[in-house]
Amino acid sequence: MNKNLSGKVALVTGGSRGLGAATAAALAEQGADVAITYVASEEKAFSVVSALVNKGVRAIAIKTDQGDPDGAELLIREVKEKLGKLDILVNNAAVALQGKNIDAPDIDNAAMDRQWAINTMGVIANIRAAVKVLPEGGRIISVGSGLGTRVAFPGTTDYAASKAAIVAYSKGAARDLGARGITVNVVQAGLMDTDMASESKDKLPPIIMESHAIRRYVTVEEVAAAIVFLAGPDASSITGSVIDVNGGFTA
Ligand SMILES: NC(=O)c1ccc[n+]([C@@H]2O[C@H](COP(=O)([O-])OP(=O)(O)OC[C@H]3O[C@@H](n4cnc5c(N)ncnc54)[C@H](OP(=O)(O)O)[C@@H]3O)[C@@H](O)[C@H]2O)c1
Repeated sequence: MNKNLSGKVALVTGGSRGLGAATAAALAEQGADVAITYVASEEKAFSVVSALVNKGVRAIAIKTDQGDPDGAELLIREVKEKLGKLDILVNNAAVALQGKNIDAPDIDNAAMDRQWAINTMGVIANIRAAVKVLPEGGRIISVGSGLGTRVAFPGTTDYAASKAAIVAYSKGAARDLGARGITVNVVQAGLMDTDMASESKDKLPPIIMESHAIRRYVTVEEVAAAIVFLAGPDASSITGSVIDVNGGFTA
């Protein structure tokens, strides 16, 4: 059966768990071949790959550190070598260092800088490397956060800003790449019950759930569905946009 993304090759960074794994699965459901990246969780990455292959698509896992400025070129080259091309880039990998105000005496600025390197400069490096190979009609979708629009809690400054920067970069890239039919968008997720959320759960104020109109976690499948829509043919006129899948966090 011909599916929406049959014949397409997608790269999902941070596909070993959480939203990245759900997005890789949702893209494969639509027929895309999928490369995922991971930095540490080799076993989980291989198990995601097996599940993707069981859906009848080609799938590979690539170990790479998104905080390494030289990693992006090598990553895109490897996807091209192993899967033949790249049509869809999903920038999902990120870290979330939250819980300390910027004037906390023990704030770890080196760790904050590494967060910027992964969440912002790593994403930009992936986009810069991908635009060299993306064809007409290519897609770039980056995962942001509701905190990129509404910084509702103290202790989230660097993380929120690292995500907000991606919005402006994506809008600019949409302008630069529009003539090639390449769309560039951001999907801003709300709180999802992944490892990332559980790592910061005790440090975040309890009102965080109340700040989401739906009063529950957003599921990874709900966010993945928006990403898959943006990756597909029906979204060809959506570019430079920010789609909030955040349960009303910014309502
Ligand atoms: N969870 C939430 O509540 C929430 C809310 C809003 C937005 N988001 C955003 O949603 C996206 C997915 O988050 P998640 O909750 O699914 O996160 P997660 O469960 O912590 O998974 C993070 C993924 O990123 C990979 N990764 C981390 N650092 C990396 C690095 N230096 N290089 C390459 N890969 C790296 C991890 O690989 P390993 O498994 O190898 O470590 C893993 O696959 C992120 O962009 C996050 O900022 C999350």
